[in-house]
Amino acid sequence: MAPHLEAQAELFTPLYERALAWLAKEVTEPGLIVDAGSGPGVVSCLFAETFPGARVLAVDFSEPLLERAGERAARLGYTDRFGTLAGELPGVLADSDYPADLLWAGRSLHHLGDQRAALAAFAERLAPSGTLAIMEGGLPSRFLPRDLGIGRPGLEARLDALEAEWFARMRADLPGSVDEVEDWPALLAAAGLKHARTRSFLLDLPAPASDRARAYVADSLARLRDGFGDVMDPEDRATLDRLLDPADPAGVHRRADLFVLTAQTVHTAVKSV
Ligand SMILES: C[S@@+](CC[C@H](N)C(=O)[O-])C[C@H]1O[C@@H](n2cnc3c(N)ncnc32)[C@H](O)[C@@H]1O
Repeated sequence: MAPHLEAQAELFTPLYERALAWLAKEVTEPGLIVDAGSGPGVVSCLFAETFPGARVLAVDFSEPLLERAGERAARLGYTDRFGTLAGELPGVLADSDYPADLLWAGRSLHHLGDQRAALAAFAERLAPSGTLAIMEGGLPSRFLPRDLGIGRPGLEARLDALEAEWFARMRADLPGSVDEVEDWPALLAAAGLKHARTRSFLLDLPAPASDRARAYVADSLARLRDGFGDVMDPEDRATLDRLLDPADPAGVHRRADLFVLTAQTVHTAVKSV
């Protein structure tokens, strides 16, 4: 996962920069920022950049991903105010010495079986007046025109449906999985937090796509082909094969109309004193 998570977060950096600028209007001079489910730390380092007075703690259960986060922080000169903590969320947060002024969980909450309990535990680890910010939901990414000239129009909508089914199975299989209406502001309020706010951020990289965007799209579609190739419509599978063929002029490596368009939603709430 590491290269995919890194490439995605790097490509999505303009979106994260806008999200963090929005957070910075409300969260002034945080002392400790916790990135819960940081992965390889691309966003953790953006927090270090946006909040130069803050210490950043990247937390994840994957030690190899945390190693990459530490290496990235060192490369960017943040070592003296960057730490990592390995373990299962949310319990591992109890091992952090200080409460967080800002706790960010970017696309990590949905990996925890009991999201309501996890939000309560996150809220518990906030300093008075601290902010909890979760990035969950938004819109599925689009890379191609609806009618892309090969195969049956609407390929990406059908891939979304396969992913949605996979997501439901992934959640059902998590340890301690609890079904929950994903009304994030209501769940933040149930965790005792106030002043819930929601905002979505767009990533709009129009055609012609950069080499970096093409590589990301190719990687994303290859993952879908590998994950769902045996259950998808054979015509769609053949279309994906053509899209992923570097020599095919209709493929994502060469076609002129490739783009990246997506939206991610951030929900915040505050621990009132
Ligand atoms: C989709 S990735 C998001 C990574 C990063 N926040 C980003 O947006 O690029 C989810 C991350 O949560 C971590 N994670 C999933 N379940 C976890 C758990 N139970 N405890 C700790 N970390 C977990 C994974 O290792 C992964 O790094």
